[in-house]
Amino acid sequence: MGFFLSNYQLTICIMYSLIFCSSSSSSSHLCHNDESTALLQFKQLFSFNCSVCDFSVYSAPLTDNWKEGTDCCAWDGITCDNTTSHVIGLVLRSNCLYGTIHPNSSLFNLVHLQHLDLSDNNFNHSQILPSFGRFTNLIHLDLHSSYLSGPIQSSSEEVWQGNNFSNSIFHLQKLQLLWLDGNRELTGKDVVIPPN
Ligand SMILES: *[C@@H]1O[C@H](CO)[C@@H](O)[C@H](O)[C@H]1NC(C)=O
Ligand SMILES: *[C@@H]1O[C@H](CO)[C@@H](O)[C@H](O)[C@H]1NC(C)=O
Ligand SMILES: *[C@@H]1O[C@H](CO)[C@@H](O)[C@H](O)[C@H]1NC(C)=O
Ligand SMILES: *[C@@H]1O[C@H](CO)[C@@H](O)[C@H](O)[C@H]1NC(C)=O
Ligand SMILES: *[C@@H]1O[C@H](CO)[C@@H](O)[C@H](O)[C@H]1NC(C)=O
Repeated sequence: MGFFLSNYQLTICIMYSLIFCSSSSSSSHLCHNDESTALLQFKQLFSFNCSVCDFSVYSAPLTDNWKEGTDCCAWDGITCDNTTSHVIGLVLRSNCLYGTIHPNSSLFNLVHLQHLDLSDNNFNHSQILPSFGRFTNLIHLDLHSSYLSGPIQSSSEEVWQGNNFSNSIFHLQKLQLLWLDGNRELTGKDVVIPPN
């Protein structure tokens, strides 16, 4: 066996990589337009300001490669469903995001989200709004250490009994993981989530 490929072998190699590349790109996601727009609008509302965050692991925002006209499923921090291409994951942990989450935020249009992690940012004392109730597919919600404020819940007994939820996040039927620690301005009693 020589170390060099014959022209024939080289052609086979190139053909193989072409097939490999085209088959992998045909299975790649193409983001839904409305979700791409929602993400870009969300990005617009926040500045990247590490002096207002307690901790950051990034030197540049993950949202830097969020560009109009590109596939949002390929953007940093985004996961899309392999079959439906809907955005199911948004992870912008420790990203020095600084700004307010308004009730009309385009974030709440991402109703297919299953995994949302906006922890370790600075949401400027935003409240955990009723709009979070729109995330009916959410399994994992991490909002720890993000300068959130306001009331979050009734007592744990009431949560277990399934009545008198004072915050929309307790209506999220699929939610399995919830992190809200490190938000000193949240008010309410201890949180207990019923197991699924
Ligand atoms: C970052 O936040 C600090 C503190 O609020 C502020 O003084 C500074 O102007 C901000 N920098 C930018 C680039 O927004
Ligand atoms: C989607 O496809 C990727 C690459 O083939 C795979 O790693 C991942 O586990 C799949 N995700 C789901 C939710 O099926
Ligand atoms: C932070 O909240 C204050 C008070 O609500 C507001 O005046 C200010 O504009 C907010 N800053 C940002 C960046 O959202
Ligand atoms: C969303 O709400 C904020 C604050 O109430 C307001 O400044 C902004 O114009 C609203 N945006 C839209 C698109 O309605
Ligand atoms: C719901 O809980 C709140 C806070 O614990 C309490 O003040 C309120 O009276 C309760 N409402 C009902 C209808 O039980």
